[in-house]
Amino acid sequence: MSRSSTVFDCTMVQLPQIHAEGGNITVINNSEEIPFDIKRVYYLYDVPGGEGRGGHGHKELQQIIVAASGSFDLTVDDGKAKRTFHLSRPNMGLYIPPGLWRELDNFSSGSISLVLASMIYSERDYFRKYDEYLMYKHDS
Ligand code: TYD
Repeated sequence: MSRSSTVFDCTMVQLPQIHAEGGNITVINNSEEIPFDIKRVYYLYDVPGGEGRGGHGHKELQQIIVAASGSFDLTVDDGKAKRTFHLSRPNMGLYIPPGLWRELDNFSSGSISLVLASMIYSERDYFRKYDEYLMYKHDS
Protein backbone atom coordinates (compact mmCIF):
# COMPACT_ATOMS: atom_id res chain seq x y z
CA MET A 1 0.00 0.00 0.00
CA SER A 2 2.74 2.45 0.93
CA ARG A 3 4.77 2.00 -2.27
CA SER A 4 1.72 1.70 -4.51
CA SER A 5 -0.46 4.42 -2.98
CA THR A 6 -1.39 7.31 -5.27
CA VAL A 7 -2.70 10.82 -4.85
CA PHE A 8 -6.08 9.46 -5.94
CA ASP A 9 -6.25 7.54 -2.64
CA CYS A 10 -6.55 10.89 -0.82
CA THR A 11 -10.11 11.71 0.12
CA MET A 12 -11.88 14.61 1.74
CA VAL A 13 -13.67 13.43 4.86
CA GLN A 14 -16.69 15.35 6.05
CA LEU A 15 -16.56 15.60 9.83
CA PRO A 16 -19.70 16.01 11.91
CA GLN A 17 -20.68 19.55 12.77
CA ILE A 18 -22.90 20.32 15.72
CA HIS A 19 -24.53 23.72 15.49
CA ALA A 20 -24.42 25.00 19.03
CA GLU A 21 -25.62 28.37 20.24
CA GLY A 22 -22.85 30.84 19.63
CA GLY A 23 -20.63 28.51 17.62
CA ASN A 24 -20.12 25.12 16.07
CA ILE A 25 -18.51 21.98 17.42
CA THR A 26 -16.78 19.26 15.42
CA VAL A 27 -16.14 15.98 17.20
CA ILE A 28 -13.84 13.23 15.95
CA ASN A 29 -14.18 9.86 17.62
CA ASN A 30 -11.33 7.39 17.35
CA SER A 31 -11.82 5.04 14.36
CA GLU A 32 -15.39 6.23 13.77
CA GLU A 33 -15.19 9.23 11.45
CA ILE A 34 -11.72 8.30 10.22
CA PRO A 35 -10.18 5.05 8.92
CA PHE A 36 -7.44 4.56 11.54
CA ASP A 37 -6.75 4.67 15.26
CA ILE A 38 -5.47 8.08 16.35
CA LYS A 39 -2.11 7.71 18.11
CA ARG A 40 -1.01 11.34 17.98
CA VAL A 41 -2.50 14.79 17.51
CA TYR A 42 -0.44 17.86 16.68
CA TYR A 43 -1.10 21.29 15.27
CA LEU A 44 0.87 23.82 13.34
CA TYR A 45 0.38 27.49 14.13
CA ASP A 46 2.19 30.86 14.06
CA VAL A 47 3.07 30.24 10.43
CA PRO A 48 3.60 33.67 8.84
CA GLY A 49 0.88 34.52 6.28
CA GLY A 50 1.74 33.34 2.76
CA GLU A 51 4.48 31.01 4.01
CA GLY A 52 4.91 27.32 3.24
CA ARG A 53 6.41 24.32 5.02
CA GLY A 54 9.16 22.23 3.49
CA GLY A 55 7.93 19.02 1.92
CA HIS A 56 8.52 15.51 3.15
CA GLY A 57 7.18 12.01 2.66
CA HIS A 58 6.08 9.26 5.02
CA LYS A 59 6.32 5.49 4.65
CA GLU A 60 3.57 4.19 6.90
CA LEU A 61 1.97 7.20 8.55
CA GLN A 62 -1.68 7.93 7.80
CA GLN A 63 -3.03 11.37 8.57
CA ILE A 64 -6.12 13.49 8.51
CA ILE A 65 -5.32 17.18 8.12
CA VAL A 66 -7.86 19.86 8.96
CA ALA A 67 -7.72 23.64 8.67
CA ALA A 68 -9.00 24.17 12.22
CA SER A 69 -8.68 27.90 11.58
CA GLY A 70 -7.88 29.90 8.45
CA SER A 71 -6.74 28.20 5.29
CA PHE A 72 -3.77 26.71 3.42
CA ASP A 73 -3.01 24.59 0.40
CA LEU A 74 -1.87 21.01 0.70
CA THR A 75 -0.19 19.39 -2.29
CA VAL A 76 0.24 15.62 -2.34
CA ASP A 77 2.62 13.91 -4.75
CA ASP A 78 3.08 10.19 -5.46
CA GLY A 79 6.05 10.58 -7.81
CA LYS A 80 3.81 10.51 -10.88
CA ALA A 81 0.90 12.84 -10.17
CA LYS A 82 0.24 15.78 -7.88
CA ARG A 83 -3.01 17.08 -6.42
CA THR A 84 -3.54 20.32 -4.54
CA PHE A 85 -6.32 20.68 -1.99
CA HIS A 86 -7.33 24.02 -0.55
CA LEU A 87 -8.30 23.41 3.07
CA SER A 88 -10.41 26.11 4.66
CA ARG A 89 -13.25 24.46 6.57
CA PRO A 90 -12.92 23.13 10.13
CA ASN A 91 -15.37 20.31 9.41
CA MET A 92 -13.52 18.95 6.36
CA GLY A 93 -10.41 16.81 6.69
CA LEU A 94 -8.06 15.48 4.05
CA TYR A 95 -7.18 11.80 4.50
CA ILE A 96 -3.61 11.05 3.40
CA PRO A 97 -2.76 7.34 3.02
CA PRO A 98 0.74 5.92 3.65
CA GLY A 99 3.53 6.56 1.17
CA LEU A 100 2.86 10.07 -0.14
CA TRP A 101 4.96 13.21 -0.37
CA ARG A 102 3.24 16.38 0.85
CA GLU A 103 3.83 20.12 0.94
CA LEU A 104 1.85 22.84 2.67
CA ASP A 105 1.81 26.44 1.53
CA ASN A 106 -0.19 29.66 1.21
CA PHE A 107 -1.03 29.71 4.91
CA SER A 108 -3.41 32.50 5.82
CA SER A 109 -2.16 34.44 8.83
CA GLY A 110 -3.36 32.96 12.09
CA SER A 111 -4.25 29.63 10.50
CA ILE A 112 -4.07 26.38 12.42
CA SER A 113 -3.37 23.05 10.75
CA LEU A 114 -4.66 20.24 12.93
CA VAL A 115 -3.18 16.80 12.23
CA LEU A 116 -4.54 13.46 13.40
CA ALA A 117 -1.91 10.78 12.95
CA SER A 118 -1.93 6.98 13.02
CA MET A 119 1.54 6.64 14.62
CA ILE A 120 3.61 8.36 17.23
CA TYR A 121 6.49 10.46 15.89
CA SER A 122 9.29 8.48 14.30
CA GLU A 123 12.01 10.09 12.20
CA ARG A 124 12.53 6.67 10.56
CA ASP A 125 9.12 6.98 8.93
CA TYR A 126 10.15 10.16 7.08
CA PHE A 127 11.56 10.75 3.62
CA ARG A 128 13.38 14.05 3.89
CA LYS A 129 14.82 13.95 0.38
CA TYR A 130 12.58 13.87 -2.66
CA ASP A 131 14.99 11.70 -4.69
CA GLU A 132 14.99 9.05 -1.91
CA TYR A 133 11.22 9.13 -1.93
CA LEU A 134 11.12 8.68 -5.71
CA MET A 135 13.48 5.70 -5.51
CA TYR A 136 11.23 4.09 -2.90
CA LYS A 137 8.10 4.60 -5.03
CA HIS A 138 9.67 3.50 -8.28
CA ASP A 139 11.05 0.34 -6.66
CA SER A 140 7.62 -1.25 -6.50
P1 TYD B 1 8.19 18.10 10.48
O1 TYD B 1 7.23 16.97 10.54
O2 TYD B 1 9.48 17.90 9.74
O3 TYD B 1 7.43 19.36 9.92
P2 TYD B 1 7.66 20.22 8.58
O4 TYD B 1 8.07 19.26 7.50
O5 TYD B 1 6.34 20.83 8.35
O6 TYD B 1 8.72 21.21 8.95
O7 TYD B 1 8.54 18.50 11.95
C1 TYD B 1 9.37 19.61 12.26
C2 TYD B 1 10.19 19.28 13.48
O8 TYD B 1 9.37 18.97 14.61
C3 TYD B 1 11.12 18.10 13.27
O9 TYD B 1 12.40 18.44 13.74
C4 TYD B 1 10.57 17.01 14.13
C5 TYD B 1 9.71 17.71 15.16
N1 TYD B 1 8.50 16.93 15.46
C6 TYD B 1 8.44 16.17 16.60
O10 TYD B 1 9.40 16.10 17.39
N2 TYD B 1 7.30 15.45 16.86
C7 TYD B 1 6.23 15.47 16.03
O11 TYD B 1 5.20 14.80 16.32
C8 TYD B 1 6.30 16.26 14.84
C9 TYD B 1 5.16 16.31 13.88
C10 TYD B 1 7.46 16.99 14.60
